[in-house]
Amino acid sequence: MRIPLSGPDITEREIELVNEVLRSRWLSMGPKVKEFEEKMAAYVGRRFAVAVNSGTSGLHLLVRSLGIGEGDEVITTPFSFVASANCILYERARPVFVDIDPLTLNIDVDRIEEKITERTKAILPVHVFGQPVDMERVGEIAQKHGLAVIEDACEAIGAEYRGRKAGTQSEGAVFAFYPNK
Ligand SMILES: Cc1ncc(COP(=O)(O)O)c(C=O)c1O
Repeated sequence: MRIPLSGPDITEREIELVNEVLRSRWLSMGPKVKEFEEKMAAYVGRRFAVAVNSGTSGLHLLVRSLGIGEGDEVITTPFSFVASANCILYERARPVFVDIDPLTLNIDVDRIEEKITERTKAILPVHVFGQPVDMERVGEIAQKHGLAVIEDACEAIGAEYRGRKAGTQSEGAVFAFYPNK
């Protein structure tokens, strides 16, 4: 039996709504974008959501907005889509990889602290394949060392851990909509 990693989930409702947009002739920043942002923020449980062209851009914007730049270090996971490390490199900062937990395939939270230096500015965990990282513990480490947290929740829309949705325990989180999401 073949079990696909993922597949698009398209129902008649999606087809209807796409047709509605096409008939409106409004194909860029129209009312649907605002509706999407509001519904996304409400669904996730954050005050604001901003639609951009890709998860990669969202991650890059968050790195920039935190003022991370040349000489800075950001702790992240090596097991991810390349955007979660590239968004750090785009700003000439250095991704510092912490190995993964073999059970969850996410960053091994127990090993984050040993990689913190005076150059560390942020921790960027990734909820790989929708499996949430223990963000409470990441938050404790970040608070103790005065670091920001950027959450790559691109693969984790709707995922929850201990009653908290992925994407709610950080300075900012990113979700993505490539068909495999
Ligand atoms: C973990 C992770 N981060 C970032 C991205 C980037 O998203 P996008 O392909 O929309 O740029 C993806 C998806 O491709 C992803 O799986």
